[in-house]
Amino acid sequence: MNKMIWRPFTQEKTASRPIKIKKGCGAYLISEDGSKYTDMTSSWFVNMHGHAHPEIAEVVGEQAKTLEHVIFTKFSHDPAEKLVNDLSKIMPRQLNRYFFSDNGSTAVEVALKAAYQFFKNTGVENRNIFLSLDGGYYGDTFGAMSVAGVNSKYHSVFSDLFFKTLMVDVSEYHGESEINLLEEREDEIIRALDKKLKEVGEKICALIVEPLLQGSFGMRLYRAEFLERLVNKVREYDILVIFDEIMTGFYRTGKMFAMNYCNAVPDFVCLSKGLTGGFLPLALTVTSEKIYDAFLSDDKRKTFLHGHSYTANPISCAAACKSLEILLREDTLKRIKEISDFHRNHNFPNATKRRSLGTVTAFDVDSDEKANFIVDKALENGIFLRPLANTIYIFPPYCVSDEDLEKTYTTINKYL
Ligand SMILES: Cc1ncc(COP(=O)(O)O)c(C=O)c1O
Repeated sequence: MNKMIWRPFTQEKTASRPIKIKKGCGAYLISEDGSKYTDMTSSWFVNMHGHAHPEIAEVVGEQAKTLEHVIFTKFSHDPAEKLVNDLSKIMPRQLNRYFFSDNGSTAVEVALKAAYQFFKNTGVENRNIFLSLDGGYYGDTFGAMSVAGVNSKYHSVFSDLFFKTLMVDVSEYHGESEINLLEEREDEIIRALDKKLKEVGEKICALIVEPLLQGSFGMRLYRAEFLERLVNKVREYDILVIFDEIMTGFYRTGKMFAMNYCNAVPDFVCLSKGLTGGFLPLALTVTSEKIYDAFLSDDKRKTFLHGHSYTANPISCAAACKSLEILLREDTLKRIKEISDFHRNHNFPNATKRRSLGTVTAFDVDSDEKANFIVDKALENGIFLRPLANTIYIFPPYCVSDEDLEKTYTTINKYL
């Protein structure tokens, strides 16, 4: 590897050299020595339809030759407008204002800032605390880190710089195998939250959650009914609600969005990752007319002064339109269901805390070392997995074959 490169989330002192990938094709990554790896992480949750999908590659090429980029203030363009029209058909009707940015963290920053400024713009001065669930992950920028909380295993070194976030303790939530415990604890958690809200509810600006599936912390699940209760509770205090669907969006959980499992509609939805099918960076923060209208004013200070150079990049938008078209095809939806069924019908007999939601499945092993061992062995067998501490998860592109899923289960079970 070129020694000047500093990799993300990598301890360069001890990490092994990266494998140089020359080509991507469907669910596979092909290295320079010709080895083939099945990408069972969808490359950090972004790749939906397989690598180098020819139809997306084609629109990317065409768009690059037509209009590669333009500042998105004075100008607009067809790919952005088409994308918003297409998304409006699958978004809750109430969410009809679309703010573009270029990655998951910025989609979250936009939601946090807009929620905060919404109150300022409407004359409410003291709502300066956020609320979230412990064990969340929203990205690595300061706002996103702050709402993940001071106990986040990724960000604690920066914790004295975070703004104030109140945590709802869901630390014993671990998915389907403990669903009864979960239901019992829900009352307790809501009661504790209610008590806190009676004290400080009117100072809280917004609740942010990853709906149903807390991803990067360890693929933890919680019930849709609980999410609905949580949202209803905070609404009693006029607290805004942000759903981070950056990882869960676009049928990952078996429905278009995880929020579709319940009746709660948030004030903001953050989208990124799978939005372009994993081709290019793009993000959206989708909100309601109520929020948008609070920024309309003759007073310039009420403007939302936020933007990124690559806002609504036309090539990214064109890729996103094509990706959405592919997603909504009958055969893609059938395959998503088949992957979900595959997880349901296959086991890891020696694993604990097995949990699955749609196309995602995960389980725990005794230690981080054991997880690393299994992941290393999988790699030797041509399967790319990436552990989250002692959790191993499978998060495949939707084009993955049953044979590749079968091989992944067999290999993991062998080393478990
Ligand atoms: C739920 C969630 N939100 C936000 C992010 C941040 O996205 P990005 O890495 O594009 O900044 C991630 C990334 O893993 C995520 O899983």
